[in-house]
Amino acid sequence: MIALATASQKGGVGKTTVCINLGHALARRGWNVLLVDTDPQGGIGLSLSKSTRKKKGFYDYLVKGGEIRTFILPTRLPEFSILPCGQPEEFLRRHDLNGSEQRLRDLLKQAELIGYDCVILDTAAGLTGLSEVAVRVSDWVVIPQQAEPLAIRSVPLLLETLARFRTEGAPVRFAGLLLTMLMESQPASAKVAKELRQMLPAQLLFTQAIPRDPLFLEASALGLPLSLLRKNPPPSALLFDQLAAELEERIGLQQSKDQVESHASLLD
Ligand SMILES: Nc1ncnc2c1ncn2[C@@H]1O[C@H](COP(=O)(O)OP(=O)(O)OP(=O)(O)O)[C@@H](O)[C@H]1O
Ligand SMILES: [Mg+2]
Repeated sequence: MIALATASQKGGVGKTTVCINLGHALARRGWNVLLVDTDPQGGIGLSLSKSTRKKKGFYDYLVKGGEIRTFILPTRLPEFSILPCGQPEEFLRRHDLNGSEQRLRDLLKQAELIGYDCVILDTAAGLTGLSEVAVRVSDWVVIPQQAEPLAIRSVPLLLETLARFRTEGAPVRFAGLLLTMLMESQPASAKVAKELRQMLPAQLLFTQAIPRDPLFLEASALGLPLSLLRKNPPPSALLFDQLAAELEERIGLQQSKDQVESHASLLD
């Protein structure tokens, strides 16, 4: 099983949107995906349905432990499940992270035993506090990045922070920087995308970028991945299939899928 976190220094760059759409794309491709909302603002719960806001979830588990399967919500797609953020108040009142890292590791172990192939951790903005812990315990991190001039300065700093986590013993590897809300037709946005592609080695930047598309706003207001917004998925939804394929390649998810398939054919 692979644990993948999304993270960013800045808020509102598209982390939650990427988690929902990428998670759903991976699930459509046959992976058993658990999407975990570690953001106390509950971006996933907000986005997916109003009733999930009142349910117990990740933060209840973080405070009291227990079996995560009791908090997991199934979706219409059997391969895609969600652990909503739950009720973060008690955790936030405590003001300390003691034991959180171990709890997160136990969560990942439980997810593996349940049979998930991939756990996606959506985080609150910033690489501190619980978001830092989520990144540190993950195998991989994806950094969504808006194509804006500040990126040229902030990306190297971010890479240094991730490198420090690794020297401190965290297993987390950088899956790639993902350009989001790209506006190819706007010279400023296109220029930054071009500069980032020149500045960073190809393996650090996903080939697939996510364009700015008002349909994402519409989809998140309805609590849907974009692929479910229309009968025929809009072009931006299909990009997430490309992204999922690229991610599989980058993090070696393909390999374990092949193993599962050959195992299945042995049983036939
Ligand atoms: N590619 C896109 N095109 C247009 N709008 C987008 C796109 N991606 C995300 N959005 C919209 O931008 C807003 C912020 O996106 P999102 O919530 O995914 O960001 P975030 O990084 O998770 O934010 P936060 O740091 O607050 O958790 C949302 O309203 C979302 O619908
Ligand atoms: Mg979010």
